[in-house]
Amino acid sequence: MKFKITLLPGDGIGPEVVAEAVRVLETIASKYKHSFQFQERLMGGCSIDKYGSSLTDETLADCQASDSVLLGAVGGPKWDDPKAKDRPERGLLALRKGLGVFANLRPVKVHPALMEWSPLKPEKLQGVDILVVRELTGGLYFGFPKGRDIKDGRERAVDTLEYYDYEVKRVMELAFNLARGRKKKVTSVDKANVLESSRLWRQIAVKVGEANKDIELEHMLVDTASMRLITGPAWMDVVVTENMFGDILTDEASVLAGSMGMLPSASLGESTIGLYEPIHGSAPDIAGKGIANPTGTILSTAMMLRHSFKLETEAAAIEKAVDETVTAGARTADIGGKLTTRQMADEIIQRL
Ligand code: IPM
Ligand code: MG
Repeated sequence: MKFKITLLPGDGIGPEVVAEAVRVLETIASKYKHSFQFQERLMGGCSIDKYGSSLTDETLADCQASDSVLLGAVGGPKWDDPKAKDRPERGLLALRKGLGVFANLRPVKVHPALMEWSPLKPEKLQGVDILVVRELTGGLYFGFPKGRDIKDGRERAVDTLEYYDYEVKRVMELAFNLARGRKKKVTSVDKANVLESSRLWRQIAVKVGEANKDIELEHMLVDTASMRLITGPAWMDVVVTENMFGDILTDEASVLAGSMGMLPSASLGESTIGLYEPIHGSAPDIAGKGIANPTGTILSTAMMLRHSFKLETEAAAIEKAVDETVTAGARTADIGGKLTTRQMADEIIQRL
């Protein structure tokens, strides 16, 4: 089959990890007789430098016209001025909105060989296999009013946590569908004891739950969830939550796996176009050194094959190769080894 993939390597270590993920996709293409056509574009700080905008209309249109998008990472100290008109992160948010990818899937599995790299005791990590479904195009990140002004002689800043019923419903339904292929349990995380938006969230969760009686629905307050994630994460399976809660909980959950460098993500919407990216950032401290862990990005390509291209066999082959590579002891610096980004990818490719 033939697919067009837009690459947005971005900033920092982004280009280094995306280059290795492309080699993995090329290996898959030749082994399974597919054709992946790549087009590379700028997004983030590099796009601000070249075009004066973190995401140009042309780049967004190119992404929309492709079958899926693979992103490295965006941001860095160079573009951190709080007064700047544009920031790399704005490009990422505009891209998510522009692609309509309202659900961000962040799976967290702990490889037995990496348990020592987790801050939790190994016995707490047994059986951890979590899928966080984070709402991605609503909530505090996008709500209006938003901004700064002077009110009653005081400097003021406003962000708005806003949700429409249909925004909650579609991400909730997706979470229920994903739960059906797993342990048939959904934990909906909110702050319904305080926030009106969370009370709407919970009301819709209950409604979707009634229409999907084969799936167990549990509600949990976000503060409790963040605590339970550390005291005993094995209870979690599919967790669905609003944008900002999901942002925070997924960083917290990621340390369970030993390194953020290991974890992939997929952002999905109504269409089959998905946005795939590792969950780590641009890591300016190690950028250009060729030592970043490419595994999260490589696993993101597996998610791309599964969710956007429906190539389950190929997706599973990548995941198996990663699993065997880690079991065999191949390690980049973040997980205590000396392999370069390229060598780690070679280890994975060799097992494909
Ligand atoms: C993430 C990141 C982004 C977010 C930033 C870079 C805008 O933290 O993907 O989790 O907050 O969504
Ligand atoms: Mg984040």
